[in-house]
Amino acid sequence: MTKFLIAFTAVFVGASAQNATNRFPDNFMFGAATAAYQIEGAWNEDGKGESIQDYFFHNYPEYTTGDTGDVACDSYHRYQEDVQMLKALNADVYRFSISWPRVLPTGDVDVINQPGIDYYNNLINELLANGIQPVVTMYHFDLPQALQYIGGWPNEMLADYFVQYARILFQNFGDRVKWWITFNEPAVFVNGYAAEGIAPSQPASGIGDYLATHTVIKAHARVWHLYDEEFRASQNGSVGITLNMDGLEPASNTEGENDASERARQFQMGIFAHPIYTEEGDYPLVVQQLVDDNSAREGRNHSRLPKFTQEEIEYIRGSADFLGMNHYSTNFVTPGLIGESPSKSRDSGVYTMPGGHYAWGLRNQLNWVATEYPGYPIFITENGLSNSGGLNDTDRIDYFTEYLGAVLEAINTDGVPVIGYTAWSLMDNFEWNSGYTVKFGLYEVDFNSTNRTRTPKDSASFMAEVFSSKQLPDQYSL
Ligand code: BGC
Repeated sequence: MTKFLIAFTAVFVGASAQNATNRFPDNFMFGAATAAYQIEGAWNEDGKGESIQDYFFHNYPEYTTGDTGDVACDSYHRYQEDVQMLKALNADVYRFSISWPRVLPTGDVDVINQPGIDYYNNLINELLANGIQPVVTMYHFDLPQALQYIGGWPNEMLADYFVQYARILFQNFGDRVKWWITFNEPAVFVNGYAAEGIAPSQPASGIGDYLATHTVIKAHARVWHLYDEEFRASQNGSVGITLNMDGLEPASNTEGENDASERARQFQMGIFAHPIYTEEGDYPLVVQQLVDDNSAREGRNHSRLPKFTQEEIEYIRGSADFLGMNHYSTNFVTPGLIGESPSKSRDSGVYTMPGGHYAWGLRNQLNWVATEYPGYPIFITENGLSNSGGLNDTDRIDYFTEYLGAVLEAINTDGVPVIGYTAWSLMDNFEWNSGYTVKFGLYEVDFNSTNRTRTPKDSASFMAEVFSSKQLPDQYSL
């Protein structure tokens, strides 16, 4: 018996020493993510206004599968099931988004839709009652259509509307919500002002997207200051922004390709992150120079990239408490003039080649972010794998194992301050132009059943184990 105990202790101590770097920090936040339009449905119920996504998917089937988010996962009626799924996952946090037109149907505060407020109150209370912290995105692509009729994000007045909306959110939910994300992936949604095919489908390439970028950055900064000045003392939460930061690695190790990789990162991420997260603020110099030069060459007497005043630069820099980062895969870049003229792609002088799922790309990206924007905690707000469906999703388990391994290496070996991770996605949902054909969920949703039956996939049990133990399974060792 004694012999057995000694042997057992030796194995146990040996294993824990070997896995010392296999653990996430004790206070690391794990959970899953969704977005309002992709799961809620109830698109016109109880006073909700139309969003640009409702409008787009109803009116532009030529760009899509013809499906819509009208019903989606029906989470507006089934949020209690969603919370039970999160509980079964042992989630610490749930990242969801609030639909602006569900709360303010016209986008303005002339109409405050109480059933919309009630819905999010119920969801938040249900989460807290089950020990899960809400992480709330204020804007995940679903602008009130009423505000698109006045031009949408290229119109700087949108910042005023967004600040009013944010105030309503802080007032109604800020007593219980401690993690706020102003915008999800602005680099993606400003494309709706550059090209057709993504809402609101306004093809003003190389102009509309920069104007929208400018408004979004100002709106973000104003909301952070609003929180800081009027709500932080009593509510004590954090406000950040989520940027898409897929890997943009040089195709090979030449100077030209290394420069292209840096330019690609600055045009995709730096354009939003540099004004907010660096000491000097403002757009990255390389972005300013290239867009200004190209604009002059095109015979314009002003740059297509709007300018911040010195006062604005100072007001915007430092306007975040953490940095939210979405990462799915890594692409490879090489110098090249690609895309219509004018366009952001052509301005960047980068040709992007499709890559794949290389977990080292996430580790590199995290290191790039930590070096470029020191001092900010990083919250990985999306990471996940799509497939065509099925409950035995070993591909997804492999993906999460490798990517979480890369996060561990970034934290434990490189010292990158990653504080949380929400997998995309809690359940299969409406994947934008791919409709219901592409599956990202830890839970399967039967879109043919009226009650949208949810069933856990193998990846749900895997993640439940990781989330509760805060470590990767033993077979994964760094
Ligand atoms: C978006 C999600 C989307 C996911 C998978 C991200 O770009 O934030 O809304 O479903 O990627 O494509």
